[in-house]
Amino acid sequence: MSSAGPLLTFPDALAARERRLDPFDWYADRRGASPLHWDPDRGCWDVFSYDEVKRMLGDDETFSVDPRNASGFQPAGDQAFLLETMLFQDPPKHDRTRDVVDEFFRPSAVKSLEPFIAEESRRLVEEALAEREDDVIDVVDALAYPLPVIVIAKLLGVPAEDRDQFKQWSDTIVEGTAGEEEADAADLQQRQMEAGMALANYFRELVADRQENPAEDLVTRIVQADADLNETEILGFCMLLLIAGNITTTNLLTNAVRIFGEEAYWPAAGQRDTAIEEVLRYRAPVQSMTRVAREDLTIDGKRVEAGDTLVCWLGAANRDPAQFADPDTFVPDRRPNQHLGFGYGTHYCLGAPLARLEASVALRELGAEYEVTPAWGDDLDPIDSSFLHGVRSLPVRLD
Ligand code: HEM
Repeated sequence: MSSAGPLLTFPDALAARERRLDPFDWYADRRGASPLHWDPDRGCWDVFSYDEVKRMLGDDETFSVDPRNASGFQPAGDQAFLLETMLFQDPPKHDRTRDVVDEFFRPSAVKSLEPFIAEESRRLVEEALAEREDDVIDVVDALAYPLPVIVIAKLLGVPAEDRDQFKQWSDTIVEGTAGEEEADAADLQQRQMEAGMALANYFRELVADRQENPAEDLVTRIVQADADLNETEILGFCMLLLIAGNITTTNLLTNAVRIFGEEAYWPAAGQRDTAIEEVLRYRAPVQSMTRVAREDLTIDGKRVEAGDTLVCWLGAANRDPAQFADPDTFVPDRRPNQHLGFGYGTHYCLGAPLARLEASVALRELGAEYEVTPAWGDDLDPIDSSFLHGVRSLPVRLD
């Protein structure tokens, strides 16, 4: 999701598997000492308190999302196009790009996808079950991973017959390199570059087609926009949706099932939506986001200089006892719940209504057909990311 240096490297404290499965004690310990700490190894500040994280995300004048404003910024070539997307643009440019698509992602607009999401969720689970004799499926492989890609393809207007190819490219682009040998990592990088180019070509053709043959889809909306986005901006936006929307939603669904299993709980219909908000607080799929200070500041007696990078820990803000009573308890009907799982302010997640709908519908369908019980042991494997929170595989029994 970023080419900003510190986002790509783990704080040392999170290197251990156990810590990445549950980083919350470390956050609490740090936050207890100060809202922010300088990490000399990564050369950035880590910010842990709710108030400071919210202030930094909410104040575009003082804090920039553009990593090019950071001292010592070095571009990471393969994802440079992301720098041209709204995720890394400050206002006023940001608002122009976002206005083009905002309407398309409103809750009332994504609502029409509900029957499609329900049908696909059922199909995916049934197909996975058909391959097994023991009624145990991996929630990640079977449902949480494929579903968001299928939904975004549909939303964009990718025809059904191209969906498998589309998914393959998309999978390659987000594939992690955990524990791989250097040669394999180089091979993956090569494949990712090729997939990125193939996908960009595919989008280029789709865009050209919709210019001639408008349809009821997002690509048509983008090409018809008044803001006349140039080709790079259009392609960047399509790629951004894949990168920002898919693995995040995968982890929301996986984290929900993980928590429900840990808590021996499954939400009744009336509690499903508040329970999903609580999942976003309790195990936020995106644990951190980065900002760059635009001016010198003093916070908690510490001197932050213009150009310093600040890693804002959403996952720590979401467990701050100054904001949430009993922050380490999962309270499925918690209200109010002003978690920062989708960020805050100008860059508040564009896809939040879609992610909420996908999670709600997929969990509804799963719970309506089956009794879901954990089939995982105490050997869960965290995903390989310094800012995403989730597990690679989550076996459950469906009776
Ligand atoms: C549970 C799933 C998701 C989570 C936890 C999540 C989280 C976030 C967060 C924390 C931000 C703020 C970034 C910042 O402040 O720097 C963000 C922005 C964004 N998200 Fe999501 N996201 C999710 C799903 C999606 C989906 C499904 C899409 C699109 C299909 C999407 C598209 C975006 C875009 C385009 C932005 C940038 C918005 C802007 O810069 O104005 N996200 N997301």
